[in-house]
Amino acid sequence: MEVVIVPDAAAGGELVAEAIVRLLNRKPDALLGVATGSTPLPVYQALTARVRAGDADVSRVRIAQLDEYVGLPADHPESYRSVLHREVLTPLGIPLSAFLGPDGTASDVPAACAAYDRALTESGGVDLQILGIGTDGHIGFNEPCSSLASRTRIKTLTEQTRVDNARFFDGDITQVPHHVITQGIGTILEARHLVLLATGEGKADAVASTVEGPISAFCPASALQLHPHTTIITDEAAASKLK
Ligand code: F6R
Repeated sequence: MEVVIVPDAAAGGELVAEAIVRLLNRKPDALLGVATGSTPLPVYQALTARVRAGDADVSRVRIAQLDEYVGLPADHPESYRSVLHREVLTPLGIPLSAFLGPDGTASDVPAACAAYDRALTESGGVDLQILGIGTDGHIGFNEPCSSLASRTRIKTLTEQTRVDNARFFDGDITQVPHHVITQGIGTILEARHLVLLATGEGKADAVASTVEGPISAFCPASALQLHPHTTIITDEAAASKLK
C-alpha cells in the first residue's frame, strides 16, 4: 500500500488524473471504476481538463459505477447514475453505451446485484477503481462488519452515513434512502489498481485504521491492505492521525 500526502484536494485530483491519462494511453478501452460523493470531484475536473487539452483520448474508455441508492428513480438528481452522468460522462463526452451500473430501481434487487457483478467480470474487470472513504471506514457502501469477501449486494446504510449524505438532499435525512446496491469488498479487490482519496479531518480516524489498523471488518477499507496495488491519496488533515 502506497500513501501519498498531497497539499490539497486539487493536487490529489491532478495526481489521479495523471494516473488515468497514463492508463488510457496504454489501454484506450480501459474500464474505469468511479465513486460518487464529494471527494473524487477534483479528479473528474482534472481529468476533463487533461482530456480537453488533448492528453488522453476517451473515445473508447468504459465507466463502471461503484454503488447506487435503491429506490431513487434513475433520473433523480441525486441517484448516482445521474451524478455520474453530470460529473463524468457529460464533461468527458462519454456515451451512456460505455457506462456500466447496477439498476437501483429493479423489482428483483438481488438479481440486479448478481447481474451487475457478473457484468463487471465479463467486461474484463476494472482497471483502475477510484474510491472515497466514509467517516466509518466504508468503501463503496460496505459499512462496518461487511464481509471482506462480499460481492455486489444490497446493504442498509448506517445512521452515520445517512447523516453524512443528508447534505446532498437539502440537509433532510428523511430523503436519504436506507438501502443501496454496492460492489462488495471482494468485488472491489478484483480491480487491478485501487486509488482511495481522503480529504479533511473528518476522515483522519478512518484513514489511520485503513493504513495502520488491523485488517478488520470493523474498518472495511482496511481490506485494501490485502491488495497488491493500492494507492491512498490524502491531504494533511486526513493523514493527521497516521503514526
Ligand atoms: C460513493 C461511495 C462512498 C463515498 C464515501 C465518502 O460512491 O462509494 O463510499 O466515497 O461515503 O463520501 P464523500 O466523498 O462525499 O465524503
